[in-house]
Amino acid sequence: MKAVQFSRYGGPEVLEIVEIEAPHPGPGEVRIAVRAAGVNPSDWKRREGQYRAFEEVRFPSGVGVEASGIVDEVGPGVSSTYVGDAVFGYGNGTMAEHAVLTHWVHKPDDLPFEIAGALPVISETAWRSLDELFVKAGETLLVSGAAGGIGSAMIQLARIRGITVIGTASLQKHDYLRELGAIPTTYGPGLAERLRQLAPDGIDAAVDVAGSGIIPELIAITGDPANVLSVADFSAEEYGAKFSHGPPKEPERVLADVARLYSKGLFRLRIEQAFPLEKTAEAQIASAAGRVTGKLVISP
Ligand SMILES: NC(=O)c1ccc[n+]([C@@H]2O[C@H](COP(=O)([O-])OP(=O)(O)OC[C@H]3O[C@@H](n4cnc5c(N)ncnc54)[C@H](OP(=O)(O)O)[C@@H]3O)[C@@H](O)[C@H]2O)c1
Repeated sequence: MKAVQFSRYGGPEVLEIVEIEAPHPGPGEVRIAVRAAGVNPSDWKRREGQYRAFEEVRFPSGVGVEASGIVDEVGPGVSSTYVGDAVFGYGNGTMAEHAVLTHWVHKPDDLPFEIAGALPVISETAWRSLDELFVKAGETLLVSGAAGGIGSAMIQLARIRGITVIGTASLQKHDYLRELGAIPTTYGPGLAERLRQLAPDGIDAAVDVAGSGIIPELIAITGDPANVLSVADFSAEEYGAKFSHGPPKEPERVLADVARLYSKGLFRLRIEQAFPLEKTAEAQIASAAGRVTGKLVISP
């Protein structure tokens, strides 16, 4: 089968399309014929070696941690999932024609493969962040970096919980944020003043998704480091704010709930572009540029 791999840390040029034997699922795993694999910033951060202090990469390494597809092999001990089932979830080396999933749920018929393959990381991260912030119905949440993958999921999951969301994005993405249910504003100088106008009663909590170095500003805006959480800025804890990270806590439950929300028309995801496997490097370059609206996917 064809797969994307890299054999040393480096820029996008280290990515190769290789012909390898398809992997087999171990106990409690399934293998899928991949239909779509979501592109995440962690793909290129891992390739650049940004995680090497806390995560061992064994070369050659596959690329991609999530996908949707059709089950074509079932590992020992797996019940309730059969060859031919449409599923989506977490795996390793998902940017390939076949990939092993370690955590998955069945894909509803009305959820497109393209969207399903892009849901796991963003929906679990958004769900977990809202839980860890203890933000409640009736409160106002600021999402800094609201137009990307996590931001798109967080706006909608927060709105479903009855939370008012103000999201930051560049001006041309404000209609997109409104469609998802957020009140948009721009980021950059004057943010605190713009927020005073939009939320005269104050901002109860803030999530830093963009990792743009504004933790102290978010603490000043919400009045307490305990009201601020980052998923992207490792320095957050130095300021007394929270840093939320994986591994996913209840992956199957969150995926099943998000699939149900999608089927009820309560959750949407814009796929900005789908790339063929051969253009994975191009997709990672686009992701690293930091301007993606919604998500990018690879469709082998
Ligand atoms: N800790 C965890 O558990 C965890 C899990 C998954 C991902 N992450 C991290 O979370 C971060 C976000 O991931 P993602 O998938 O949402 O990224 P993404 O989809 O690539 O985010 C792109 C968006 O970021 C916006 N943006 C860029 N600079 C901004 C700024 N200064 N202020 C506000 N928005 C800005 C862009 O909007 P404009 O074009 O309008 O600027 C763009 O729409 C990444 O660093 C990723 O590694 C953490």
